[in-house]
This record gives sequence, C-alpha cells and structure tokens, in this order.
Amino acid sequence: MKALILSGGHGTRLRPITHSQQKQLIPIANKPVLFYAIEDVIEAGAEEIGIIVGPNKDQVMETVESREWDAKIEFIVQGEPAGLAHTILISEDFLGDDDFIMYLGDNVIKGGILKHSIKFRESGPDSLVLLTEVEDPQRFGVADLDETGRVKRLVEKPKVPPSNYALVGIYFFKPSIIEACKSIKPSWRNELEITDAIQWLLDCGHRVEASIVDGWWKDTGKAEDILEANRLILDEMKPKNEGVLKGSRVFGRAVIGKGSVIDNSEIKGPCILGEGCKIVDSYIGPYTSINDNCTIEGTEIEDSVIMEGCSISNAGRIMESLIGKNVNISENGRRPSGHRFITGDSSEIML
Ligand code: TTP
Repeated sequence: MKALILSGGHGTRLRPITHSQQKQLIPIANKPVLFYAIEDVIEAGAEEIGIIVGPNKDQVMETVESREWDAKIEFIVQGEPAGLAHTILISEDFLGDDDFIMYLGDNVIKGGILKHSIKFRESGPDSLVLLTEVEDPQRFGVADLDETGRVKRLVEKPKVPPSNYALVGIYFFKPSIIEACKSIKPSWRNELEITDAIQWLLDCGHRVEASIVDGWWKDTGKAEDILEANRLILDEMKPKNEGVLKGSRVFGRAVIGKGSVIDNSEIKGPCILGEGCKIVDSYIGPYTSINDNCTIEGTEIEDSVIMEGCSISNAGRIMESLIGKNVNISENGRRPSGHRFITGDSSEIML
C-alpha cells in the first residue's frame, strides 16, 4: 500500500505563523505535526509515501529529510492549492494501480490508523472514510449512513445534517478514485473537492464504507486547535529527564531534553522542554511545550507552545499562547514605561 500525505496549502487561518512556516511543520509536543502523519501511515503498512508540497516546499523537504524513515518518500509539487482531489490527480504516476491512504498533513489522531487500515484491507471497498462524532456537524463534511454502516451520501456543511458523523481528514482508496477525481468539476471555491469525488464513486455504484474513530482526532487548522492537540499529546507522554536541575522542582510528567538547565524554577507536567533550554527563576506549567534552545527567565508559562530559539524574560504570566521561532519577549525597563511591539502582519496580541 502507498500513502499520500498533504503538506501544501496556504494555512491562512494560522497567520502570522504561516507567513514564514508551512503549517504542517508547526510542532506539537516539540514534533512537527506532519511527522505524526508519516509515522501513522508507516505503522499502517505504507511502504511508499508521496508528500504533496506547495508553498514553502523546500522547508518541508528539508525537515522530512532530516530524519530516517522506514519507507520510501518522494515529494510531489503542487503549484497552487487547487483542492484535495487535485492532489490525487497530480499524483497519478506515483499512485499507479495501488491502493493508498490519503492523510491530511495537519491532522492528528489518537492511536494511529492501523485498525482502520486492517478494516480497509479485509473489507476491500473502493473507499473507506474515517468518521468522528461531533456536536456541530454543520461545520463539517457529513456522512449519511445506512443501517449496515455503509456510506449513502456525503454532504458538505449541511444546514440539516443527516447524522453527527463528520469526515476526518484520513481516507483509504482503491485506484478507482483517480477516475472520480477526473470526472468532477471544481466547486464554488474553485477547488476539486474530495467529497465530490467520493460522492461520484457512490453515484456510480461503488462501495464506500466508514470506520468510526473512537479516540480523539484534531485538525490543527487554527491556533486553538494546535493548543488542544498539544494538550492531548502531552497527556499521553511518558516523563524523561535528561537535563540538569539546580535548586528546582519538577512535579508530574515532564520531558526535559539534553543540555537543558533548570535553575531556581518550578516545572509542572505534563510538559516538554527541548534540548539546550535555559529556564531561570521561572514556572513552566501544565500543557506547555518549549522547543530547543529557548531561554526563559523570570516568567511563568502555562498551556502554550513556544517554538525554537525564543528568548522570554520578565514577561509576567503567559498562557494559551502560540509563539513562533526566535521570538524575543522582554520587559521594557525604560522610561516612559509601556508596551513596545515589533510584530509581523496578522499578529495577535492580548494584554
Ligand atoms: P485546508 O486546511 O482546508 O487548507 P489550508 O491548509 O490552505 O488552510 P487555510 O484554510 O487556513 O488557508 O487544507 C487541508 C490540508 O490539505 C492541509 O494539510 C493542507 C492540505 N492541502 C494541500 O496540500 N493542497 C490543497 O490543494 C489543499 C486545498 C489543501
């Protein structure tokens, strides 16, 4: 089996972070979101993986190639993000006649997809879609199921939802989906929609089955989703301390990376600190991920994601924040007192 992982798109809802960084590279518990997808498809049996890259493609390729993977990886360049079904069309040569998993590179799911992969292989439908029960199906692509659990119809953001089962961004396909993608027309937003391609399969009498996700699933499209995914992953992380503690206390499950020094500070898990960090006179609270080479002094941080190379000093209490790479936050010790900002476009600041 092959896998197609989508790591293109503009990620407009995550600006300003995505002005300079591809959204699938945003770290969750200090690991790029995309890596969770790659690990999941390998565990599910994919031996060849095609990664769709678009804006910031060099960044994605460099990050993926910085690690060894137990599968052959190739990159497929998508000019403009023209829709999920479009990524299948441009991957026709890579996909050949093989079955494949399509996995949106900004999705994270508890416990991987092995069980769904086995179901797809055993049952052999043209497509197996993953579904999750949601309270607000109006915001999602929703499946209408028959009494045996087969998909009858898919509806995008329905006013009157036929069920509470929303489509998760993970699909299994037989090669018949390629003909489906060739047969549909772009939607009102000028994208080739995967829901239209799956609906085409249904309309042509092909078999589409569903598999229900029983744990959590997160689409990390917005800042609050990144924070929530970070909480969910940290909740399951095992503690490991490879750092140095000086006059500091660690409570709960904390991961502290090599070369990190915790000086006169308190760490309360679940949290993760990367390598080469310096935490001085500070408090790092639950659900915080601090990436490599950050320096935190005289500051309290809780429930936040801080990317690598940040320097934060005497900044009071920081919470529910998503902070990009190499950000500098410090106290303005000068007169007149007041907040001083040098921020990028579309930044969000709450005082
Ligand atoms: P979206 O989250 O729908 O789109 P986006 O990433 O451009 O984000 P925004 O709406 O904030 O602008 O895309 C779902 C996933 O699929 C995401 O991982 C990006 C990827 N994708 C592609 O690789 N190519 C495409 O043509 C599209 C539409 C999405």
